Amino acid sequence: MSNNRLNLDLAGLSLSNPTILASGILGYSTETLQRIVEAGAGAVVTKSVGMKPRNGYANPTVVQADCGLINAMGLPNPGIAVFAGEIRKAKKLSVPVIVSVYGFSAEEYAVVSTKAADSGADAIELNVSCPHVEETGSEVGQCTKVLGEVTAKVKSAVDTPVFVKLTPNVTDICDVAETAVRAGADAITAMNTIKAMAIDTETALPILSNKHGGLSGSAIKPVALRCVYDIYERVKVPIIGCGGVRNWRDAVEFMLAGAVAVQIGTAVALEGPGVFKSVARGIEAYLKKKQFKSVKEIVGFSHRK
Ligand code: DHB
Repeated sequence: MSNNRLNLDLAGLSLSNPTILASGILGYSTETLQRIVEAGAGAVVTKSVGMKPRNGYANPTVVQADCGLINAMGLPNPGIAVFAGEIRKAKKLSVPVIVSVYGFSAEEYAVVSTKAADSGADAIELNVSCPHVEETGSEVGQCTKVLGEVTAKVKSAVDTPVFVKLTPNVTDICDVAETAVRAGADAITAMNTIKAMAIDTETALPILSNKHGGLSGSAIKPVALRCVYDIYERVKVPIIGCGGVRNWRDAVEFMLAGAVAVQIGTAVALEGPGVFKSVARGIEAYLKKKQFKSVKEIVGFSHRK
């Protein structure tokens, strides 16, 4: 979609509009990413990739909640050696490709990020926020010391922008954001899923094989919005809003709170890729109606005194 009003710069990446595919949704192959680009996304984030292949958890891995999904896939991925081929192919996409990376140590995060960047990733998004895989994800993002080490190590290893995707499962997400930025984060993605679970009353057992999972979708939007609003007051780097965006109003709310762009995941899974165009068109109509010349003018606008 080429429309000047919707163009933006995100930590050095040029986006034609502020909608981004969130990590974890259709993010494995260039073919599915291509479908998302054709549907109008301004950038895409891949599924998280690590050093070695992982099968992930046994089924069931996803359960529907009221106004959302709870998932615990267990970070299934083919490992960076195989995924590097997919990143190289994804270079032909007409939008920036952001590769989501996880690791079990700062060193692993750095090695995987380097391989992703060498294969052509336009940016790296550090998954320091998966709510339930042991010794990675939120176990990194909940400990400012470890988060700082991981972020700094990756920053010194790659030349691409580094985004840090934070977990809301902490006492104060602003402290965590500040740590990430001090360690060199070029942007903050707020936020990943909220730790949750569901129980089947017939079997009287937890539904997910892993018992716990991450809650996403409309149910978490007000929490994500609060995180973006508060982080905007504390750090100067761009913030990417993520959590429950399914229509243009949600996206505009995130931008007024301080997000320069929004990631969309669950709505793509539940309603299909048409959401990118409908959100982008809705933002554009809002800007015209309110006489804003650029999407940049509404970023953080709700903070004015
Ligand atoms: C998984 C990873 C996440 O980052 C998340 O928020 C939820 C689930 C997973 O792969 O299980």
